[in-house]
Amino acid sequence: MGRGGRATATCCRKRGRLTWGASETLLSPGAFTSLASLLARRSGLLFEKKSRAMLERRLGPRLRANNLPSFDEYISFLQENPTEQDAVYQILTTKETYFFRQEYQLRAFVEEIIPHLAEVNSVNKRITIWSAGCSTGEEAYTLAIMLMDCPALKGFRTSIIATDLCRANIEAAERGFYRAGSFRAMSADLIAQHFTPEKGGYLIKPALRRTVHFSQGNLMNARDVRAVGRVDVIFCRNVLIYFGEAARQSVTALFYERLLPGGYLLLGHSESLLNAGTNFQAVHLEADLVYRRPSIDDSSSRIKASS
Ligand SMILES: C[S@@+](CC[C@H](N)C(=O)[O-])C[C@H]1O[C@@H](n2cnc3c(N)ncnc32)[C@H](O)[C@@H]1O
Repeated sequence: MGRGGRATATCCRKRGRLTWGASETLLSPGAFTSLASLLARRSGLLFEKKSRAMLERRLGPRLRANNLPSFDEYISFLQENPTEQDAVYQILTTKETYFFRQEYQLRAFVEEIIPHLAEVNSVNKRITIWSAGCSTGEEAYTLAIMLMDCPALKGFRTSIIATDLCRANIEAAERGFYRAGSFRAMSADLIAQHFTPEKGGYLIKPALRRTVHFSQGNLMNARDVRAVGRVDVIFCRNVLIYFGEAARQSVTALFYERLLPGGYLLLGHSESLLNAGTNFQAVHLEADLVYRRPSIDDSSSRIKASS
């Protein structure tokens, strides 16, 4: 093998197929460690040793697209190049999402958390919700639909902010065009109410489109997180599951800071802060366990919290 993990072979045949041709490039164990630690620092994403072949396979084409001969050179380039970082995040992140995902949790949110917050915020009549790691926007639009006719919020100003690491996801969310898979848990009536059929899918109607403010933002970047402002509820579902422990802790601490006292954090069904040593309180709702930043006035709280 040549220097920097570049194979000297110009062409090889595997199972009768020609592969990679002139620039078969390998991710050496040393380069893997540098790449995994760069990705962990910048994006929070955790890649364990067993992911080496996957990273090599998925990022190999990026070396060739940028005309770089080895992973060592590619990693130096990646470190300094935000456009390339975006391309890598687009390749490596899991974007799976759909409307009304984890509906039991959304119901608990609307039926238990919202009435409580409406009572607490009855003077300023404002509620701000953040979908952090919103992918292509289905979660944020679902929240907007569920809150539209919520009796507890009559007379309230509701803001929904949605952010994601990948610019392409935000652009897709802003376009609001979705294929059938996104609607797998949504009723035909609601689809007809909020979307117009278009070739190959459905386009969001302007009234729903206007209810969410989207922007690109990295949860590992404190400046991006603080740009969101202070909020009453954070939905960060199925995002931290892909993070390493240190990244999870630093993002959780930022969430605590960004939540107004008494505000709620809702995670995905396989994510937990139990035993994570945070200041969040666990709150047992009828159908779910959520987390809450304690409020100064907790003695009057009607929602059962346990530290
Ligand atoms: C599996 S999707 C979850 C989408 C939605 N929250 C849901 O539960 O349906 C994970 C999303 O987290 C985003 N993500 C990963 N790392 C991130 C980071 N450091 N900052 C912001 N978003 C991130 C990915 O781009 C991806 O769109």
